[in-house]
Amino acid sequence: MSESAAPIAQIVETMRALAGPHPGFRPVHAKGCVCYGTFRGAPPARGVSRAAHLQGESVPTVIRFSNAHGNPDVHDGVPSPRAMAVKFQLPDGKNADILALSIEGFPARTPEDFLAFLQAQLPDKATGQPRPDAVPRFLEKHPSTGAFIERLMQKPVPASYGQSSYHGEHAFKFSAADGSSRFGRYHWVPEAGEVYLSPDDASKRGANFLGEELESRLRNGPVVFRLLLQVAGQTDPTDDVTALWPADRPKVELGRLEIARVSATGIADERRLVFDPTNLTDGIELSADPILLARSAAYSISYDRRSKEE
Ligand code: HEM
Repeated sequence: MSESAAPIAQIVETMRALAGPHPGFRPVHAKGCVCYGTFRGAPPARGVSRAAHLQGESVPTVIRFSNAHGNPDVHDGVPSPRAMAVKFQLPDGKNADILALSIEGFPARTPEDFLAFLQAQLPDKATGQPRPDAVPRFLEKHPSTGAFIERLMQKPVPASYGQSSYHGEHAFKFSAADGSSRFGRYHWVPEAGEVYLSPDDASKRGANFLGEELESRLRNGPVVFRLLLQVAGQTDPTDDVTALWPADRPKVELGRLEIARVSATGIADERRLVFDPTNLTDGIELSADPILLARSAAYSISYDRRSKEE
């Protein structure tokens, strides 16, 4: 086991404890909806990266929208980050994945901080009672976690999975055929525009309104997102997922995703699929962000546990 594997296993255990027993489900992002679509790279993308899916050919994709909550029966009106995970099925038979959240940034800069934040949400071991001051105490020492929660409360619930933007959060390194390279962060922007609901309005909708709305929206035509790459300035941190870059950094159009249909075999797909931000292809590399580097191990432990119906 590598030096960092122990806290990662502990993070997954803590996520499982917070979610409660839901055999076969993800301990976070438990409630989801799988769709199929097509991505086509835009002309400027080639100047940024030589990655196979950014050269202008049409690429089949699998998409999973989800609620970050660990309870698969959570009401869709409960405020929490939503997610869009996209798997590009490349001509060489391999995959490249982008995992993105509806809120920019992340609540923790390192796996250790993330573990401490999750542990602060656990009940008292001895009494089983909630510890109402544990999270506020954590937030006092970690202002960037509080800033993430504030951003969440500005966009607590999307009106539609197809009307939220989603952010890839980490920096990745992109290299083009001409040998040039740059760091960038992904942003998916919905062509239908962004609409968010207040928790009060959202609580009055049905418990599964987001999945149902997506199905009915897709019956009337594709759900479309543009993929943009925010290019880092010289001094922008590329290893800190809590530090947002200035909003006026140039954004390069990478392509267009057209989501065509909800999967007819969604439940089986959800069990089989693993999205992993380290699934990359030539022309895209990892940054040194410690959260990014921790994720693949967590996803593989999680898949192992859920595929054993634990
Ligand atoms: C150390 C930090 C993190 C840990 C330990 C972690 C852990 C996990 C785990 C255990 C799962 C369930 C995986 C499965 O069973 O297939 C998951 C899913 C997910 N995570 Fe993370 N995560 C971390 C950071 C992030 C960040 C920074 C993002 C931002 C993009 C993110 C986005 C997602 C998404 C979108 C899914 C759902 C994927 C799907 O639909 O299958 N996670 N995460």
